[in-house]
Amino acid sequence: MTAAELPFYTAEEVAKHNSESDCWVIYRGGVYAFPEEFIMSSHPGGPVLLDAAGKDGTILFDDGPHGDSAREVLLHFRIGTLKKD
Ligand code: HEM
Repeated sequence: MTAAELPFYTAEEVAKHNSESDCWVIYRGGVYAFPEEFIMSSHPGGPVLLDAAGKDGTILFDDGPHGDSAREVLLHFRIGTLKKD
């Protein structure tokens, strides 16, 4: 499935998914869902990712030590696109 085929979500909907067991984050207009295992164990930066849970994490991600490989990993978690209202 390409990003263009994914559903649209409003920021209000994304905001409901704001816990470690249910964590959605907006990044540059895309919506991403991070599994608890990734947040608590796999993310090299640790659970700090939760600071962006239910929110726009673009600044946090871009200010962090993320390179092309992190961007590539990010793609796997894409579930949708932010609906502008
Ligand atoms: C929107 C999603 C993400 C957010 C908000 C985020 C946030 C952060 C933050 C704030 C840090 C800095 C931690 C510190 O300074 O101690 C960090 C570190 C890091 N993140 Fe992320 N991250 C995200 C997704 C990812 C993804 C998908 C990867 C891919 C593997 C990744 C890989 C890393 C790496 C390699 C570091 C550096 C860890 C180190 O200092 O050794 N991040 N992240």
